Amino acid sequence: TRVDVGIVGGGPAGLMTALLLKRRGISAAVIETRTKDTIHHTQRAGILEAATVNMLVDAEVGSRVLTAGHEHEGTVLSFDGEAHRIDFQALVGRSVWLYPQNEVFFDLANAWEREGGEIHWAVTDTQVHDVETAAPRISFTDAAGQERGIEADLIVGTDGSRSMCRKLIPEQVRTDHFISYPFAWFGILCEAPPTAPELIYANSELGFALISQRNETVQRMYFQCDPDTDPQSWSEDAIFDHIQAVLGHEGGVQLKRGPIIEKTVLPFRSYVCDPLSHGRLALAGDAGHTVPPTGAKGLNLAFADVRALVPCVEEFIAELRAGRAETGSGAPGSGAPGSGAPGSGAPGSGAPGSGAPGSGAPGSGESVSVIETPAALRRYSRTALDRVWKAQNFSYWATNLLHRHPEENPFTHRRRRGEFDAITGSVHGQAYFADSYTGWSD
Ligand code: DHB
Repeated sequence: TRVDVGIVGGGPAGLMTALLLKRRGISAAVIETRTKDTIHHTQRAGILEAATVNMLVDAEVGSRVLTAGHEHEGTVLSFDGEAHRIDFQALVGRSVWLYPQNEVFFDLANAWEREGGEIHWAVTDTQVHDVETAAPRISFTDAAGQERGIEADLIVGTDGSRSMCRKLIPEQVRTDHFISYPFAWFGILCEAPPTAPELIYANSELGFALISQRNETVQRMYFQCDPDTDPQSWSEDAIFDHIQAVLGHEGGVQLKRGPIIEKTVLPFRSYVCDPLSHGRLALAGDAGHTVPPTGAKGLNLAFADVRALVPCVEEFIAELRAGRAETGSGAPGSGAPGSGAPGSGAPGSGAPGSGAPGSGAPGSGESVSVIETPAALRRYSRTALDRVWKAQNFSYWATNLLHRHPEENPFTHRRRRGEFDAITGSVHGQAYFADSYTGWSD
């Protein structure tokens, strides 16, 4: 296959990129190592920022977000059993939507397939070649066992937090920013009615708990646990007793209990890859950065990447097409080895991270030249990273505000109460939370 853009990873970030590029006359093909069914049935977070919802609506992919999702105009923060509502609409004029990410995935995958987009599920042996040249390509074995290839002008890596594409950015030009946390989340799905109309983020001396929802009959909840916890070691009663204790017993919220149908432990880490582009490769979503789950920024940040990436890809492809038309070289399908991209190696484009000439793998055949990272893709990296770091900060801050550290003492908990009061006790503090949680306007 020969396309404009080859996409490694068919999760929400990859599919949204493919669909938006298609809307702009840019062809894409997607590969994914998991099956469609596996992704559709993997529980992920359930909160979408307004901008994420707008993208689903504007892309006209037939998403059920507005019909099956629920608008939340606020959320509740609870500390030692005392609850405070943060009114998003009153504070910043935006809401969030409760709509599970796995349904976002399903809507996008169905749209891409319905529109005849090329996608290969359950591929193996994926390799990405020559991203430091003007003729990158992907090779893989499809689900039927056939070896295949995708030739493109650009590769987009949306292959999740264990990204293989990320490793194609040479270590000399890549900075991996990483921290781990001394706790994790125990997540459950249970068959019960909603406990409350909005989400409740709670902290107490026992640590964190979150009451979320899925629909009228299935609920999602989390509580802080040790990263080594065996999910089977907690009984149903112990789980609900613990979450109720975090919410408080007297006058607090009364948890609605029901049979638990899923138990999982979710890891906590913060990671940023800098830069997000190199040569003819751009990373988006978890492939480029991971946030801890507090605040549900992961998918929203991936969509923000896509919003930044698509116009930059459009500009890059337009330049490429114009350049090719000028020189008369590189008819579609030729991959034009060594043709470079006029306009992509502009003077002054040798910024750090743009791929030092000569760093490409030798012996990759033909006269394929090592190229600089196109200016539009470098701009993508800078734009996306600005928002990534804002979200990293919010996720980190909200995590520390709401969790108990193993080595903590009475000072730590009391100080945290002071921080909590500073947020909930003033409209400025509340607005900070609301603005970050609902997603800063672009
Ligand atoms: C959910 C997950 C989150 O991490 C969060 O902050 C809010 C909601 C969820 O799964 O519903």
